[in-house]
Amino acid sequence: MKDLKGRLAIITGASAGLGVRVARVLGREGMNLVLAARSADALEAVAAEVRALGVKAIAVPTDVSDESQLQRLVERSVAEFGAIDVLVNNAGIEAFRAFHEIDPADIRRTIDVNLTATLLLTRYVLPHMVQARRGHIVNMASLAGKQGPAYGAAYGATKAGMIAFTQSLRSEYHGKGVSASAVCPGFASDGGIYEVIRQRIGHGTPWYVGSTTAEAVSRAVVKAIKQDRPDLIVNSPALRPLFTFCQAFPRLGEWIVRKSTIKFLKQAGTSQR
Ligand SMILES: NC(=O)c1ccc[n+]([C@@H]2O[C@H](COP(=O)([O-])OP(=O)(O)OC[C@H]3O[C@@H](n4cnc5c(N)ncnc54)[C@H](OP(=O)(O)O)[C@@H]3O)[C@@H](O)[C@H]2O)c1
Repeated sequence: MKDLKGRLAIITGASAGLGVRVARVLGREGMNLVLAARSADALEAVAAEVRALGVKAIAVPTDVSDESQLQRLVERSVAEFGAIDVLVNNAGIEAFRAFHEIDPADIRRTIDVNLTATLLLTRYVLPHMVQARRGHIVNMASLAGKQGPAYGAAYGATKAGMIAFTQSLRSEYHGKGVSASAVCPGFASDGGIYEVIRQRIGHGTPWYVGSTTAEAVSRAVVKAIKQDRPDLIVNSPALRPLFTFCQAFPRLGEWIVRKSTIKFLKQAGTSQR
């Protein structure tokens, strides 16, 4: 989808972190926005900020783990705007713990918010896109979906699921005007889940893992839609060669990822107790 001006995007998780930046950048592209998350006041503040750019934006308080609220979100979007051109499945939570100690309820919650909600919301949005023969789904995955991290098993599993789901959508709707992209950020150093953990434990990951910014992630979302990219790894230094290497040499790949992230993620998990 080359021209985003006047089109409609639904963005989940738009009350904080990366979702706010995605809302700003899509608003600057001239897109009208439906913003979803649970925090009504924060969401309304983002909607007001985006409206000042001259586009329409509404806040629809939504818990994405509640299917009936997802249905209402889609109904409201269609009632207000007629069509849904872009869906950004961005709402997400982390669950960094030793897997033998993680609360089973946290496993379910992580899957519900990160993965099930992504699939269900896409399911409710797609009939409108298929009928219009136009639409793009952006799934906010993670590097953790490319190589499952220690102490992030549940989180990594949901992100790998989002990547596979994206691939299926691309294949299934190819040639029908509808497509999908997975955006896979590294650790964003200027807001969001990672930055909260980094401040809590007092240090980040080793320098050679690199990082990204919320601005780079939001620009990647635009690139994904306009250039119909299958997936975008957003990190500096570029890590695609590393993940290609991990696939070709899995034992060496897992060693590199374990060495580079294990201390940070272990501390992320223990610091929450
Ligand atoms: N930040 C990073 O370094 C990084 C790296 C890779 C991938 N990601 C991914 O990027 C996405 C955004 O992460 P972030 O860092 O911006 O996180 P964040 O700052 O914690 O924001 C998470 C967003 O998700 C929303 N959310 C959480 N649970 C929800 C629920 N049940 N229903 C509706 N909305 C819900 C939150 O809003 P409410 O609390 O108001 O509901 C908030 O708007 C996630 O999918 C994350 O996995 C982030």
